[in-house]
Amino acid sequence: MRIAISTGGGDAPGLNAVIRAAVLSAINRGWEVLGIKRGFAGLLGEDEVVILTRDSVRGIAHLGGTILRTTNRGNPFHYPLKQEDGSYKEIDRSSELIENARQLGIDALISIGGDGSLAIAGRLCEKGMRIVGVPKTIDNDVSGTITTFGFDTAVNTALEAIDRLHTTAESHDRVIVMEVMGRDTGFIALHAGLAGTADVILIPEIPYDIDKVCEKIMARDRAGRQFSIVVVAEGAFPQGGRVSVIGESLPGQAKRVGGVADSIAREIQQITGKETRSLVLGHLQRGGMPTGYDRLLATRFGGAAVRAVEQCRWGHMVALQSPHIVTIPIADALRELKRVDPDHDVVQTARETGISFGD
Ligand code: F6P
Repeated sequence: MRIAISTGGGDAPGLNAVIRAAVLSAINRGWEVLGIKRGFAGLLGEDEVVILTRDSVRGIAHLGGTILRTTNRGNPFHYPLKQEDGSYKEIDRSSELIENARQLGIDALISIGGDGSLAIAGRLCEKGMRIVGVPKTIDNDVSGTITTFGFDTAVNTALEAIDRLHTTAESHDRVIVMEVMGRDTGFIALHAGLAGTADVILIPEIPYDIDKVCEKIMARDRAGRQFSIVVVAEGAFPQGGRVSVIGESLPGQAKRVGGVADSIAREIQQITGKETRSLVLGHLQRGGMPTGYDRLLATRFGGAAVRAVEQCRWGHMVALQSPHIVTIPIADALRELKRVDPDHDVVQTARETGISFGD
């Protein structure tokens, strides 16, 4: 048996722990393991395919990033091909990819990725490739799994930042607006904001009204709390407004969401007259050591993925349905993006403890 492993999409803390667990579980069964570099690009001749041994995965479980590298471009079904005039044309290279995998003697692939990479994996399965998926994202937006590794680490990084901002905001009587990742979902903002006792949390699932945000800040002011912390998900948008998008994406890349904190800070300062600062936490949330929770979940996913290969669960992905790791069809998981339920107890508790969602 010869399996291959790839990591695609944005990196998330815990990827190396998945790779390590999968490689060791496979080698301990007497299988060979190949590592495909840079997502599916390694199977399209754009990067290499390497043999993974016990040595390759020694001492990596605690490291952020991925030893296999990754990319969030180059979907083989919509591959961006540069034309002579500099423009790009999309072509389908999926059959070429499947043929390359066949020539390498790959019996099965473990594809670790977010919704984008899992969708590609699902389509390659439909074309006959034998693939098991492992969900990965700091955004926690994949359905069918209670959580994904990387999310807990991102929340803890955001939480530490909120703790640090509290002391400086209070010292200066300032409002500080901190933008966190999450794309079209507000899980990171909600969890870090509630755990960090933010005063306002803005998420895409609950469009905000800037006047309500300012009312909350001024109510605190009148009560003698002259500073406020606003945690905003990058995908949050005002009622009747739109998501803020940063500049141009590279060919084959999804839209880049962000920049909302800056405009919210300007509006708050204008309406309340309070000195307001903003910051974007950005990729700090994706880097660094995975937390113990993420390392354990990632290791469990890696082991479960190899068992899924053994059981020929093609087109399925591993998922956490506490207390167990199960497998579910990738297509089921991708039917709907997982989003914050505005009636969830986390939102309710946030409201009942005085946090405003600007609605
Ligand atoms: O999906 C993970 C994520 O970190 C999002 O939260 C964010 O919008 C996006 O990736 C950033 O992507 P990039 O690394 O391409 O800027």
